Amino acid sequence: MDKGGEGGKFSANKAMKTISSVKELKENIKSWKKEGLTIGLVPTMGFLHEGHKSLIDRAVKENDRVVVSVFVNPIQFGPKEDLSTYPRDIERDKKLCSDAGANILFNPEASEMYFKDASTFVDVEELTEGLCGSKRPGHFRGVCTVVSKLFNIVTPDKAYFGQKDAQQLAVIKRMVRDLNFDLEVVGCEIIREEDGLAKSSRNTYLSKEERKAALILSKSLNKARNVLSEGERNTKSIKRVIEEVLNSEPLAKIDYVEVVDSITLKPVEKVEKEILIAIAVFIGKTRLIDNIIF
Ligand code: PAJ
Repeated sequence: MDKGGEGGKFSANKAMKTISSVKELKENIKSWKKEGLTIGLVPTMGFLHEGHKSLIDRAVKENDRVVVSVFVNPIQFGPKEDLSTYPRDIERDKKLCSDAGANILFNPEASEMYFKDASTFVDVEELTEGLCGSKRPGHFRGVCTVVSKLFNIVTPDKAYFGQKDAQQLAVIKRMVRDLNFDLEVVGCEIIREEDGLAKSSRNTYLSKEERKAALILSKSLNKARNVLSEGERNTKSIKRVIEEVLNSEPLAKIDYVEVVDSITLKPVEKVEKEILIAIAVFIGKTRLIDNIIF
């Protein structure tokens, strides 16, 4: 372990580099590897908040060096999705990463990440069939392709992902296993606003009224947790309880409510093993997701 010193872990924040070229990033990684330093990677699309920060904090604790990527990955957005309006503030992101002790912020252009005639993509089957996978065709193909590329460029010892995107976390764990990536995927708990709303870059789309209405997501999941604690095991009844709460909010429109096995992501009828309750709800035009594990 590197214990600090010139350019070492504890003087890292004043020395954070912002890099936009793959070649330059690889050179930095190579020299760290020569020194025997461990590397943590936190992939993000930027507009960073406390949720992202919790991943970076953990990565800084557990690795000698940390790379945060900020890249709004075009190939994971559908044609009718919010690629062009996705919130960005790279200066604020730089400060947050540097204050948190990250060593490199990798912020490439799309033309740097993708060859014009790129013809190789990573598809994880089955796990991507339900939940967000069925609602956002091609989304996980885009996620898995960009995350594989980041893994190949950074060759991290550990990579950090939030439980907020539960299906994404499960899919990436499976991809790492299936493709023999030599790294550990670390899942990190959901960070919420004080009132319970899961933090998300997309929360900035919400008007004041919608922000209030968005609380209905965590409320409905809390209600589900209560009925589970009281002994309810029938997933149809649990879904009904959640839908009732969500439908009581006029600004909310359900995209899906699912109760699935937390590993296989297959729907279950009776709660016997660990389950994931995942929901996606439109609040006005903004699509929000949330989940709990029970
Ligand atoms: P993004 O939405 O920016 O999220 C980056 C990481 O932060 C993800 O692992 C996500 O689960 C985590 N995260 C977001 N909100 C969180 C919260 N409230 N609590 C805990 N963790 C949270 O997810 C993506 O970007 C992209 O799909 C990416 C993996 C970077 C590939 O492009």
